[in-house]
Amino acid sequence: MLTRAQLERYRADGFLVLPRFVEPDACAALRERAGEIVAAFAPHRDEAPVFDTTEQGHARDDYFLTSGDKVRCFLEAEGEDGSWAVNKIGHALHDLDPVFEGFSYNARLAEVAGDLGYRDPRLLQSMYILKEARVGGEVTAHCDHTFLWTEPPTVSAFWFAIDPATVENGCLWALPGGHRLPVRSRFRRAGTGTTMEVYDPEPYPTDGMVPLEADVGTLVLLPGLLPHPSGANRSERP
Ligand code: FE2
Repeated sequence: MLTRAQLERYRADGFLVLPRFVEPDACAALRERAGEIVAAFAPHRDEAPVFDTTEQGHARDDYFLTSGDKVRCFLEAEGEDGSWAVNKIGHALHDLDPVFEGFSYNARLAEVAGDLGYRDPRLLQSMYILKEARVGGEVTAHCDHTFLWTEPPTVSAFWFAIDPATVENGCLWALPGGHRLPVRSRFRRAGTGTTMEVYDPEPYPTDGMVPLEADVGTLVLLPGLLPHPSGANRSERP
């Protein structure tokens, strides 16, 4: 699937943007299915802790840590007017939801994984990030190896634009070459909760970060050590 030039670029930059990799219809099917999942969750939203606050620590940790083999909605921080929105759906959509399963387990993606050097790839985690108009939250710079740790690092993210992603609505950013920086932290279980082991408290450099704007159907490949933030969505579009 990938040309030699694309692989060279991936190895040099630490990411690769592949426009028009997925048909718009396939993206629309995921968007529709995600909407159904959120609609089914709406009457139960009081049972879900807000994802990005430090309050309700135990309930939030438990809801998160037991989501690896479930399809759960995670909430944005509540608006001042009491409004609510889903931040993301995770983390086993690829195994539990037929629409996401069909999108995830397919020969083209397996071929891309093979091109990246995987010989026995596994789909471990899936998430659908909504980043709703006006309320979608910022994600600070992190690398995915911090959260899906293996020795040596093996995780890669396959990120798809389901809606057009722009600087205005909070697209991904990445630091070219940043995948060669040492990992700075490791997220771990600790008793019934979680902890972040910090090896280097210095934040990732923001100088040189580039926005990865993407049209519907774009696939972005992100190896596990690449720092990547995304902005808040203050626009009128998801
Ligand atoms: Fe990430």
